[in-house]
Amino acid sequence: MFQLKTVAPIPRPLVSPPMPMTQSGLQMTVDEFAQFREFIYQHCGIYYQDNKKYLLEGRIAKRMQHLKMTNFTDYLTLIKFGALRQQEYRFLYEAITINETFFFRNEAQLAVMDETLVPAFVKSKGAGRTKLRIWSAASSSGEEAHTIAIMYLEKWKHRYPNLDLEIVGTDISPHVLETAKKGIYRQYSVRNMQPDIMKKYFRVNGGEFALADEVRALVRFDQLNLYDDMKMKQMMNFDIVFCANVLIYFDMNSKIKVVSHLYNSLTRDGTLFIGYAESLHGISKAFKVIHFPKTIAYKKE
Ligand SMILES: C[S@@+](CC[C@H](N)C(=O)[O-])C[C@H]1O[C@@H](n2cnc3c(N)ncnc32)[C@H](O)[C@@H]1O
Repeated sequence: MFQLKTVAPIPRPLVSPPMPMTQSGLQMTVDEFAQFREFIYQHCGIYYQDNKKYLLEGRIAKRMQHLKMTNFTDYLTLIKFGALRQQEYRFLYEAITINETFFFRNEAQLAVMDETLVPAFVKSKGAGRTKLRIWSAASSSGEEAHTIAIMYLEKWKHRYPNLDLEIVGTDISPHVLETAKKGIYRQYSVRNMQPDIMKKYFRVNGGEFALADEVRALVRFDQLNLYDDMKMKQMMNFDIVFCANVLIYFDMNSKIKVVSHLYNSLTRDGTLFIGYAESLHGISKAFKVIHFPKTIAYKKE
């Protein structure tokens, strides 16, 4: 017969353990977190899960320290009702977004563009001058858009002399767009770059990598919130759209809304690429899914 062993109860602390604090020592209450989350969601579709509270707390606390504020509710009041709230949004966006990116990030997608999409596009247009419009939505500091510009200079310019290329990069955060416009990068951004390309298109100065003007001149950067219906309706007639590694920060409703705008921004036969770890499953049935080695593309028919 089995005998039940008496297990001594685990002693519980009489008071709950102290909540971990941000480096600044500032603590966001659960109610403040709920208010920030709602505000951010309504403004840009980014949804902070409960387990990301400390991330948000730390990032906003950093901005508050700069403003010499010690209370999260005061910062909420500033961004909700402050006379200078519009100016503050750039810092808020800087605080709440993750901007990781680098040159030649998704090689499989770039290969599809180079080997399949661009040749098919040029062929479909016949002999005359051909305008190809590519949009790097959520471009962060511009590495993706500039990668495409380098591909043009390296390959397409010579192969397709009639090709007229327009590349647009947009992001919600003015801070990263400043880097994009300057074209000055750090080692992290260029770590996937072939040495000959690096030599040809970058001037290296200490730890800085300055992009050549001929590459920068091919890309236009603008601030754009993918969650802004009015602005999104103005983004039209793109042949290829990259919207990578941003949908992961949205909840289902934001994804559906943003993807439907991206669909409308494409020409017929246009192609959307999203991030390696992202999928449109359950988000949109409007696209035709095309399978390529190591990647998929979403085609508007
Ligand atoms: C992780 S980066 C991805 C950069 C690039 N697409 C890539 O895949 O390498 C995500 C970018 O999305 C931007 N972002 C987040 N929410 C946005 C929104 N509502 N509208 C536009 N950009 C947004 C962030 O500012 C950030 O720069």
